[in-house]
Amino acid sequence: MKIAITGKGGVGKTTLASSLACIFSKDFDVFAIDADPDMNLATSLGVHENITPISSMRKLIKERTGVESGTSFGEIFKMNPKISDLPDKLSYDYKGDGTLKLMVMGTVEKGGEGCVCPAAVLLKALLRNIIVKKEEIVILDMEAGIEHLGRRTAESVDILVIVVEPGLKSLETATRIKKLSDDIGMKKIVAILNKISLNEEKDFIEKKLSQLNLNLIGTIPMDKNVIMSDIEGKPLINYENSIALQAIKKIAKNLKRKA
Ligand SMILES: Nc1ncnc2c1ncn2[C@@H]1O[C@H](COP(=O)(O)OP(=O)(O)O)[C@@H](O)[C@H]1O
Ligand SMILES: [Mg+2]
Repeated sequence: MKIAITGKGGVGKTTLASSLACIFSKDFDVFAIDADPDMNLATSLGVHENITPISSMRKLIKERTGVESGTSFGEIFKMNPKISDLPDKLSYDYKGDGTLKLMVMGTVEKGGEGCVCPAAVLLKALLRNIIVKKEEIVILDMEAGIEHLGRRTAESVDILVIVVEPGLKSLETATRIKKLSDDIGMKKIVAILNKISLNEEKDFIEKKLSQLNLNLIGTIPMDKNVIMSDIEGKPLINYENSIALQAIKKIAKNLKRKA
């Protein structure tokens, strides 16, 4: 199962991605992939050492795509670089209860249709070709959109999760993402509501989401433990009394059912 998490900046994508990764790693082999240029999935997992982002591995990019990173126009390079051995080579082994591997993509140049920068080609190939066996789960922590994925990559994502928070701004982003994902034919698009403290907030968002035709599969309350975990640099899974963590555990079950 490949789960991609997106939504406006600050809504809680990384918190959700890291917590799901920890929860799933008890029963599955998990690849957590930080595909947001504003990388902080590692920190959210309590990993504080530097992990080299794939986009800065110039030698690797050159070796696999045939051209220097940073090049784009007029170069002919391999659109289908060999990547089958990469996930294991590149991923950082996270020391948790189960198997959890972490990969950091780094800043990948964007572009419209047919963006052909080598780093982007490598990233897309990676996402497309990570073979997910029955007992494997890939969790992608993405930026606010899916533009950089491209049609074929997006096709390989099983569930797109859009995180929203109370307010019109994150709903606006959700609307845009929903449209893009419909356009490229993604099938399972669901929403998660985060940072809820009042029933009125939940009602408001629920109404808006149903207008968008988005299925709400979970609600995460506003929780001081999330802020504490951020301050202390520890993963939320360490905070057993966290009501947000309890909610994310339920979401993990829902996602397994949806897949
Ligand atoms: N349920 C929650 N309760 C309280 N604070 C939260 C909650 N979810 C996220 N936050 C806080 O909001 C901020 C943004 O969260 P983050 O997961 O980094 O969002 P994103 O990855 O979407 O930018 C962080 O400071 C985080 O601690
Ligand atoms: Mg983030």
